[in-house]
Amino acid sequence: MTDQYRLIGAPVAHSLSPVMHNYWFRSLEISAYYQADLVTRDELEQAVMQIRASGIKGFNVTFPHKKSILLLLDELSERARLIGAVNTVVCAGSRLIGYNTDGVGFLQGLFHHFPNLAQKQHLSVLMIGAGGAAYSVAQILSETIAERIDICNRTMEKAFHLSAACGASVLSDALTFAQAEQHLDQYQIVINTTSVGLMPEQDHLLIRLDHACRHTVFVDLIYQPRRTALLKEAERHGFPVLNGLSMLVYQGALAFQMWTQLVPDSRSMESYLENNYL
Ligand code: ATR
Repeated sequence: MTDQYRLIGAPVAHSLSPVMHNYWFRSLEISAYYQADLVTRDELEQAVMQIRASGIKGFNVTFPHKKSILLLLDELSERARLIGAVNTVVCAGSRLIGYNTDGVGFLQGLFHHFPNLAQKQHLSVLMIGAGGAAYSVAQILSETIAERIDICNRTMEKAFHLSAACGASVLSDALTFAQAEQHLDQYQIVINTTSVGLMPEQDHLLIRLDHACRHTVFVDLIYQPRRTALLKEAERHGFPVLNGLSMLVYQGALAFQMWTQLVPDSRSMESYLENNYL
């Protein structure tokens, strides 16, 4: 019998998760199939009820359901509870257990591309955006390599909220875009977690990079397009850049391990997707 896995969200048509998981299933000779289902906000509850009854083994959750799904699950991992968002669900019989692999996936991808960062402990990070994705990334950075995490966001109130949620283990401030621009030389990593680059016609620079330091790493969680306005501008200045493809692959690999207890090949997946789909 072929085990079934799903991605639920809206939109999902652009997602590379089906290509990635089905490739891993084939290469590890697992009889399973992963499919993206368009599920709108109004349809979420019904979709989860159907999944419960269907015998599906697990699913991923993406925008806009990462928070709202929490109330529909039976159990949450410590990390999912802490972040307040779920991107991976394991179906254990009819019990649904929620996890969040986004933050750890982000960090593994970052360390894969910039191994020197894995040795650090006192980094200053600027995060642009304070939505769901920002919480996962801020959480893992505060546990590992960051000593300071500043947040700038269009809606300041949300920046204050995320700054407070970073906890006592790091210093954290909410900044305006203008303040962030002026102090850009203080940060070793700048991460765009907003959705601004998703639509090429709406993409624009949220901060100017004139004050950035030569070694600052610029990261965007978006992988399509391959280079957002931020990453293009950072490249133009000669700064090291990373898009969201590695996060996609590493968070997916962690979900895959939870579902199958097998470790898929993340490194070759990243270059496969980069060469064939971006
Ligand atoms: P996700 O779960 O992917 O993080 P989200 O929770 O909707 O999605 O968050 C989207 C982020 O992109 C927010 O930080 C949002 O800023 P606001 O909090 O002010 O809404 C940011 N964002 C989206 N469109 C933007 C725009 N045109 N300019 C600036 N920020 C924008």
